[in-house]
Amino acid sequence: MSGFGVTGAQAQSGELVLYCSVAEEWCRVMSEAFERETGIEVLMTRKSSGETYAQIKAEEGQPRGDVWWGGTGDPHLQAAQEGLTAEYQSPMLAELNDWAVSQAETSGYRTVGIYAGGLGFGYNSDLVTENPPACWADLLNEAYENDVQVANPNSSGTAYTLLATMVQLMGEDEAFAYLAKLHNNISQYTQSGSAPIRAAATGETAIGIVFMHDAVAQAVQGAPIVTVAPCEGTGYEVGSMSIIEGGPNPDNARVWYDWALTPAAQELGASANSFQVPSNANSATPDAAPKLADIKLIDYDFALYGSSEERSRLLARWDAEIGSLPQ
Ligand code: F6P
Repeated sequence: MSGFGVTGAQAQSGELVLYCSVAEEWCRVMSEAFERETGIEVLMTRKSSGETYAQIKAEEGQPRGDVWWGGTGDPHLQAAQEGLTAEYQSPMLAELNDWAVSQAETSGYRTVGIYAGGLGFGYNSDLVTENPPACWADLLNEAYENDVQVANPNSSGTAYTLLATMVQLMGEDEAFAYLAKLHNNISQYTQSGSAPIRAAATGETAIGIVFMHDAVAQAVQGAPIVTVAPCEGTGYEVGSMSIIEGGPNPDNARVWYDWALTPAAQELGASANSFQVPSNANSATPDAAPKLADIKLIDYDFALYGSSEERSRLLARWDAEIGSLPQ
């Protein structure tokens, strides 16, 4: 890979502790490329967005991580508001799409957008052969009893995006009424956001509510998965990156941050079966990436749904009204 310009003479040393919240394969490809380019050893762990937020919160005062790369933007914004992540204005900001810069501005430059993707669902076309679902409302069909999976919004940024999307599409009480009805069709609330579509790909479930790019990733690998952009409209994520406040290797954290915003680094996603829209305007978008312009996107209020108060409140209400329902 070229373009970042770290030569042998400039090579850094030491370590970088990376908390990664995208697919394991992409986390590994990024870590290995960065090690090759910079000589900095990456100690990477992969966890879902909500879980990583909770870990960084638990480590407050004694931070062990340097960079949180990937995962939905809302918990990154919550971490920013709570001072868990550090302010940094990368010179690369000038190359980013507006939605990525606006994520940085909303957080006082404590996070930044690295990719975007729309929320939707995918179904297994071997299992769903008649009247395929096209809308959020269709997922309530009693024909799908125990045939739908989605993640738990406490651990998963995908599932929190679903919760916040429904609140914005329908109003809060209607959203909770929808989720309570949907519960009748849910066989399992998974920990990771993309697990439901992996289960649909193997036929373990018929329908998985996920980001559309995660459904595309299964189809590209040959699974009988059809990706749906729900007819009522849908929310989306601005996948984000933050430097952890007080982390052990702050210089190396900034080297990662600047590098991760280059086209060369962002284009590694496609080679790792990841089909989000990259944030650098000069990065090639993978051919298979669902086109945001073709999806009826809501005007997702990241500042509100990424705030500490709102995210904590909605998750508490989900625990009380949905998570506690009998399976
Ligand atoms: O699998 C990739 C991805 O969908 C990202 O686009 C997203 O930011 C992340 O996973 C969310 O994962 P989770 O729902 O497990 O937090």
